[in-house]
Amino acid sequence: MSKKLFIETLGCAMNVRDSEHMIAELNQKESYEITENLEDADLIIINTCSVREKPVAKLFSEIGVFNKHKKPSAKIGVTGCTASHLGDEIIKRAPSVDFVLGARNVSKITEVVHKKHAVEVSTDFDESTYAFGEYRSNPYKAMVNISIGCDKSCTFCIVPATRGEEISIPSDLIVQEITKAVASGAKEVMLLGQNVNNYGRRFGSSEESCDFTQLLQKISKIEGLERIRFTSPHPLHMDDAFIQEFASNPKICKQIHVPLQSGSTSLLKAMKRGYTKENFLNRCEKIRTLCPEATISTDIIVGFPGESDADFEDTMDVLEKVRFEQMFSFKYSPRPHTEAAEFDNQIDSDVAGERLTRLQARHTEILDEIMDAQLGTVHQVYFDELKPNGRVSGRSDDGKLFFVQGSEELLGKIVDVKVTKTSRGALDGVLV
Ligand code: SAH
Ligand code: F3S
Repeated sequence: MSKKLFIETLGCAMNVRDSEHMIAELNQKESYEITENLEDADLIIINTCSVREKPVAKLFSEIGVFNKHKKPSAKIGVTGCTASHLGDEIIKRAPSVDFVLGARNVSKITEVVHKKHAVEVSTDFDESTYAFGEYRSNPYKAMVNISIGCDKSCTFCIVPATRGEEISIPSDLIVQEITKAVASGAKEVMLLGQNVNNYGRRFGSSEESCDFTQLLQKISKIEGLERIRFTSPHPLHMDDAFIQEFASNPKICKQIHVPLQSGSTSLLKAMKRGYTKENFLNRCEKIRTLCPEATISTDIIVGFPGESDADFEDTMDVLEKVRFEQMFSFKYSPRPHTEAAEFDNQIDSDVAGERLTRLQARHTEILDEIMDAQLGTVHQVYFDELKPNGRVSGRSDDGKLFFVQGSEELLGKIVDVKVTKTSRGALDGVLV
């Protein structure tokens, strides 16, 4: 009889993919099947995020709750970025945890499940050529890692400390994995890395030479693959050749994440982001000029140490100028193993909170205008999910979420849809 796995995934797309890898390994080598019921589980995994403090604080109370409701024989594993940075500390604080597996040690999942109190959190382990088993949470779309780790040293960010130095995955392996996914029904791929357009700077053992633009060209030759997305690129590495490829390659979806962090050049310097406000605006302008149909999303941190009113106004100014179609905004959270946590000019949390509210309120107004203007327009939508009440959802090429009335016949199809109703988060439409 199969054993049951309950897995909770927090954080970024990379974590979602790490969870898929663990599910595949546990299923194919250890006969685990997924369950949504904690009480039925023989193994409980919490795949954690440590990019901000909140989810970390929640972890220990969650372990307590899981421990209370689980079967007595069930094991608990903590994986991901918090596992990397807290290591055996987790078992000391919560002895009910059976193993701790770091974000760069995912391939060891089938080993650690058999060991009591195993802690595998090395950040220089190279699993860039490991052949993971196959599992996709959505049969119509595939996520594929193109690199592991991150070589930047943004002063606010814990990721380099939890995921280690950047190693690119050989392009042939990437192409092989996508080809397999296409053969089993995926028309869309999401390429994943902490800094995708830095691809090819360093490989583990392979000696190839291939940059991100060349990788995109190689991938777009895969027959049957219709859509290519990627996350996240870094504004510093968006050269003209890359933007040109983005704009002109018909398989690349016209949605791009350009993480701003701050609009203030002096703050960007303190963050070690490597670009100025003007460089950033110039890159966005280039995207808007070469590819007017593209949507641009971003990440913004408010309340970074030393952020003055004038610095914050620079961020508001960039929002006004670029009018991001999507914005993920966060209050700065000091993290261990980061430079900025040691800065002596930390910002008052209420001030940061007020700035965040103002930024989000203005973005909401912009978003309403953008979405309202969609009424009557026609988009190609790739349908990938059945919803309640006879509805089906999918995304347009530029990343907007669509709902139409329909059945499973639409799943896996790319169809023209005309927008009949708009809202901030999604669009309703009819097939045309
Ligand atoms: N390279 C990744 C970054 C991962 S972290 C990417 O580009 O997606 C995701 C986002 O979390 C960052 O872009 C940043 O906006 C935010 N973030 C990272 N560290 C943070 C911190 N200490 N406080 C608040 N937000 C943070
Ligand atoms: Fe973090 Fe900067 Fe890398 S935000 S993941 S250190 S590009």
